[in-house]
Amino acid sequence: MIISGKELSARLKAEMAEQVKTFPAKYGRVPHLVVILVGDNPASVSYVTGKAKASAEVGIRNTTIRRPESISEAELLGLIAELNADPEVDGILVQLPLPKHIDESKVIEAIDQAKDVDGFHPLNVAALWQKQPCTLPCTPKGIIKMLKAAGVEIAGKRAVVIGRSNIVGLPVSKLLLDANATVTMAHSRTRNLAEVTRQAEILVVAIGRPKFVTADMVSEGTVVIDVGVNRDPETGKLCGDVDFAAIEPKASVITPVPGGVGPMTICCLMENTIECFLRSR
Ligand code: GUN
Repeated sequence: MIISGKELSARLKAEMAEQVKTFPAKYGRVPHLVVILVGDNPASVSYVTGKAKASAEVGIRNTTIRRPESISEAELLGLIAELNADPEVDGILVQLPLPKHIDESKVIEAIDQAKDVDGFHPLNVAALWQKQPCTLPCTPKGIIKMLKAAGVEIAGKRAVVIGRSNIVGLPVSKLLLDANATVTMAHSRTRNLAEVTRQAEILVVAIGRPKFVTADMVSEGTVVIDVGVNRDPETGKLCGDVDFAAIEPKASVITPVPGGVGPMTICCLMENTIECFLRSR
C-alpha cells in the first residue's frame, strides 16, 4: 500500500477550512501565519510558496516576509520581536537554513513560544520530552498521522529511525516511543546499519541522501516512511532517501516522494497555526 500524503493532507485541509470559516463570527478574524524567508535558496523559496498556498486553501491569512541574505542577526531578531508583540500575528515561522552569519538557535529562541508553529523553541522541545502539552514539530506529527491513517499499529513494534536531526529524527523517535514502539535511533556512525534496519517493522528515514536505503536493508512487510527530498543525481528528478522502486514490492506500506511526507508537514503547519490561534483566544 502506498500512503498518499497528498490525498490525506487534502482531506485534512478541507476539514480545517470548514473550521476556519466559523472563526470570523466567533473570534472576529482568521488565524494569521507569518513566514520569514532570508535569502533566495531555491528549495526554501519553494517550501515557503507551498506554505502560502496551503494557507490560502485553509483560509489562514499568510504573510511572507522576504529579507536579503545580507540581513544582520540583530535586524532579524528585531523583526521577530515586532511580530511577537503584534496581537494580530498568531504564528511565526523562520524558514531554515539561515545564512552562516546568523545563529539559528538564537533566532528560534527569540520566537514567542506561544507563536512557535514549528515546535522548535527550546520550551516546546522540553515539553515534548516531558510529555507536557506543546506544539509538535510538523514533520514528526505528520508522520504519526500517516501511520494512523494507514491503520498501522505502532504499540509494541520495532521502529528504526535513521537520522537524528532536531527537526525530524529526534522528535519522531520520541513520538514513536510515546506510542509504545521499541525505538532504535540509527545514524551515520551506526555499525552494520543494514542489520539494524532489517530488524525494523517500521522504518523512518530522514538523512537527506538520495536512494540511500536499498532493498537488501528492508525486510518483507516493513512499513517504510521516507522523509527525504533529494534530486536524483542520474535523472535530476525529486527522489527520497529510499529506493522506492526496489523497496515498494517488499514493503507493506510505503510513502512516495514527492506526495508523501512533504504535504503532511505543511498540513500540520496549518493545524499548528490554528492551535496557536485558539490557545491565545
Ligand atoms: N527547513 C526545512 N524544514 C523546515 C521546517 O520544518 N521548518 C522550518 N522553519 N524550516 C525548515
